[in-house]
Amino acid sequence: MRIDSPKMNIARRACLKAAKSLIRDFGELEKLQVSTKNPGDFVSAADKKSEKIIIEELLKINPEYGILSEETGELNKKNKEQKWIIDPIDGTLNFLNGIPQFAISIGYEEKGEIIFGIIFDPIKDEMFFAEKGLGAYLNNTRIRVSKQRKLTNSVLATGGPKFNSKHKNFILSEYIKVSNAVHAPIRKFGSAALDLANVACGRFDGFWQRELSYWDVAAGIIILKEAGGYVDFIHNDEKNLLKKNIIATNSNIHEELMACILNKNIE
Ligand code: IPD
Ligand code: CA
Ligand code: CA
Repeated sequence: MRIDSPKMNIARRACLKAAKSLIRDFGELEKLQVSTKNPGDFVSAADKKSEKIIIEELLKINPEYGILSEETGELNKKNKEQKWIIDPIDGTLNFLNGIPQFAISIGYEEKGEIIFGIIFDPIKDEMFFAEKGLGAYLNNTRIRVSKQRKLTNSVLATGGPKFNSKHKNFILSEYIKVSNAVHAPIRKFGSAALDLANVACGRFDGFWQRELSYWDVAAGIIILKEAGGYVDFIHNDEKNLLKKNIIATNSNIHEELMACILNKNIE
């Protein structure tokens, strides 16, 4: 039987409280005050409200926790031992357009290593979570990645490029290249956190995306690893945690997808 850790209890409480507010706002979209951060990257009042609730709930337990959150940035910067990484709505563009594909994503690092993550889709009532060494779950059920072995038969997801990306054409051509290597259309659902969660539970065989931020993927990384998947970063400056080019798979197709993206032959 699964026994929830204190971290799980804290994060779940924060998630459920923020989700209540998000669902209310999702139902009243027209009343939201929407401001534009830059093209393709909208920030809504709902986003900020959700973030505030999550941060307050976490700091209630320990006011010294380090926090990295999309809208607020960093709090308690000096605390490198215990840090929460928060995306209060992943899939903002979906949310603002009434498309029910978005999630709250909260990861937790100890001494720089992600050891816990939770991704909650409040519309489907799906809570994905994992803690290092304890496996990954969707609600009360243990999850595993798919068994797919061939890239050609794989169902893949990706996202981007961002509207203002300097590498838009490169990213689009990469999409075509991978698309030619698989026998199914590539899915683009607009929430990187849920894309990772969907690889973790075997709905997708793999996911890759360039130019993501740490809060998009922190929780998903541990959930996927604990579900038996594999995560890599392509051409990344490891120190620059705020720019992530990620390849995340069921591990069986990892080498093939990586080679396809990097134009390499597999020996
Ligand atoms: C976005 C989503 C989307 C991805 C974008 C992200 P946001 O996060 O994860 O799937 O393609 O690159 O910025 O802005 O909705 O939190
Ligand atoms: Ca995000
Ligand atoms: Ca966000």
